[in-house]
Amino acid sequence: MKKKILAGMAVGIPLLLLGFQNCSEFQLTDEVVFDQSLTDLAMSLDNKLLPGLLQSSDIVYWNPDGLGDSIKKNPILAKEMGYVIAIGRNAAGKIISVDSGSMSEEGSILVQNGKIRATRYTSSTSYDYLEVNVPSAGDKMVLAASFGEKAGSFTLMVNGVIQTGTVTKVGTPLDFSYLAKGVSLSGTAGVVDEVMVYGKALTNAELNVLSRYVASNNGIKNVIVDPALLSDPSVIGGNGGGGGTTQPSAAFTAAKAVIDARCLSCHSSGSSYGDFSNLTEARAKQLSLVIPGSPESSKIYYRLTGSSGSNGPKNMPSGASISTSDVKIVSDWISGIK
Ligand code: HEC
Repeated sequence: MKKKILAGMAVGIPLLLLGFQNCSEFQLTDEVVFDQSLTDLAMSLDNKLLPGLLQSSDIVYWNPDGLGDSIKKNPILAKEMGYVIAIGRNAAGKIISVDSGSMSEEGSILVQNGKIRATRYTSSTSYDYLEVNVPSAGDKMVLAASFGEKAGSFTLMVNGVIQTGTVTKVGTPLDFSYLAKGVSLSGTAGVVDEVMVYGKALTNAELNVLSRYVASNNGIKNVIVDPALLSDPSVIGGNGGGGGTTQPSAAFTAAKAVIDARCLSCHSSGSSYGDFSNLTEARAKQLSLVIPGSPESSKIYYRLTGSSGSNGPKNMPSGASISTSDVKIVSDWISGIK
C-alpha cells in the first residue's frame, strides 16, 4: 500500500484517524492526517455508490432514528446479508442478528467485554467468527458487516476500517441456503442510532460508503475512508481509486450495462459459477473473464448465445435470449481493451 501521510501540510481536508484496530500498517492514533488522495477517494466513492445504495431494493430493514422502522421486510429470503449500525461505544450484548430461528443461518454482531464479534452461524455448533477490540475513542461507533453465501465469507468494518484479524472456525461452517430470515435487534436498549440491513453481501467500498453516511447522519466523527481501499482492485475502474481520475470508457460502460441487466441474476456475489457484480475492466481481467483485444478468447463473450468463434458452449444468459446488438456491445468492449 502506498502511504501518503503528509501531516502538517495544508492540503485537502484533515481526516482524523482514530482507533485503528488490527491494522499493523497503520499504527496512527489520535493523529491528524492530511491526505488529498483519501479525500478524493471518499468523494468519488460516495458519488458513485451512495445514490444506488440508498435506493436499493435490497434494503430489507432501515431504522434511521433508532425509533420506528422506515423499511421493514420480514421475513427476508436471502443467502447473503449486509449490515451497517451506528451505536454507542458502550453498547453490550447481541446488537443484531438475522436468522431463521434456533441459530441456523444467522449473521450476528455481538459486543461484549470490550470486543466486537461478527459471527456467521450455520448451526449452534458450526460457525465462524472474527473478533476485534472496541475502538478506544468516541462516544459512538459504526459497525458494518457483510456475510456472503460461502462459509467463511464475511467482512467486519469498524468506523470505516476493514478488520483483518483471523477468522476462527468452530465445527464445520456451511454455505448459506435460501431460508426465510428475520431481523432482530437486542441487548442495546437506547443505544442504537441507526441500522440498515441489506439482503445481499456488500463490498468493502459499499460498507465504507454506508459507514460514513450513517456516521454523518448521527454526528459520529471518527469514521474514515479506509486507506486500504486505495489499493482495492474492486474500487473505481481498478486504478486503485487514488484521485478517481480514470473514467471508465464508454465501451466498458455500455458492456457493463448489458452484463448487469442480463447476467447478475445468476452471476452475483456468492455465485459458484462466477461473480460479475461490481465489474470493472481491471476486475474482468483479474478474473480472466476477458482476454484484452480478443473477444473470441474471452469467456464473458464466447459463452453468449449468438457469439462467434469456436470456443465453449454458447448458452448464456442461461435459459434466456440476448439481442445481437447486446452481443456486439460486449464484443466491441473487449476488442478495445489494451
Ligand atoms: C439464469 C442463470 C444465468 C444467467 C442469467 C447467466 N448465467 Fe452464465 N452461468 C449460469 C450457470 C448455471 C453456469 C454454470 C454452467 C455452465 O457453465 O453452463 C454459468 C456459467 C457461465 C460462464 C462460465 C463460468 C466459468 O468460470 O467457466 C460464463 C462465462 C457465463 N456463465 C457468462 C454469462 C454471461 C456473460 C451472462 C449474461 C449475458 C450469463 N452468464 C447469464 C447461469 C446463468
